Amino acid sequence: MPLGVRVGIIGGSGFDRSDILSNRVEHEIVDTPYGQPSDNLVSGTINGVECVLCFRHGRKHSFNPTRLNYRANIWALKQLGANLILATTAVGSLAENFTRGTLVVFDNYIDTTKHRSNTFYDHEPGHLEGVMHMSMHPPYDRELRQLLIQSCAETPGVCYKDKSTVVVIEGPNFSTYAENKVFISWGCTTIGMTQTPETILAKELGLPYAALGIVTDDICWKEDGIVEPNEVVTIFKATFPKAMEVLKRTIQKIGEKDWTEILETIRKRTEEAVMKH
Ligand code: ADE
Repeated sequence: MPLGVRVGIIGGSGFDRSDILSNRVEHEIVDTPYGQPSDNLVSGTINGVECVLCFRHGRKHSFNPTRLNYRANIWALKQLGANLILATTAVGSLAENFTRGTLVVFDNYIDTTKHRSNTFYDHEPGHLEGVMHMSMHPPYDRELRQLLIQSCAETPGVCYKDKSTVVVIEGPNFSTYAENKVFISWGCTTIGMTQTPETILAKELGLPYAALGIVTDDICWKEDGIVEPNEVVTIFKATFPKAMEVLKRTIQKIGEKDWTEILETIRKRTEEAVMKH
């Protein structure tokens, strides 16, 4: 009997609605050993597949990328039965051919953040015990990435990239041109603020994770490029229907697949990455 899947969805800036789900149930308070998630989670179905939705920054965008509780968001998703995660996130472009409105299936990240809890195993009372040395290669789940890419290819009118290294900056301020030139020299084609520690924490809990970036501004690689925050949300919202169509198709494909063996392999690998004495 194949294992039932429940897809955790993490919605980024501008993703403030739960009506993408049918049969909705709002979970008012989810307490985790790591505190509370950014907002109430909402469970329901998409194309008949069970899903749980988490608003990364809260529905009203109350938490900046450093202060938001990534650990509680991921833990709460797992607590409500999610066994894999799809995320959406706004990113800037660091390359001429990544234009506004492009959907991006990341295959790598470079983490430059400094002020975030990036492990569940932090030796605090009530938290997971031991020392986790998880390999972050590959950072994004291969199967989920393939399903996202297939769905992008099938969705009419979608402009997409099937790989990108995203550089994650601490924020909340946008980067300087000098910084952008360094990131470009590292091979990064997109820039964002939330892919870490989210990707890392999902892996620590054995949850396959992939993310769909939405390019909201395409000027960081230009010397006179100034990112306008309101525009980021406007472009995100304008592109959202296409991103949602891609997510829906991906979720349908997830529901058609038997994940039993994949999840068991990941579970074992995760368990083996914890050093205990
Ligand atoms: N999110 C959207 N656009 C961004 C940018 N230019 N830099 C960092 N994060 C972003």
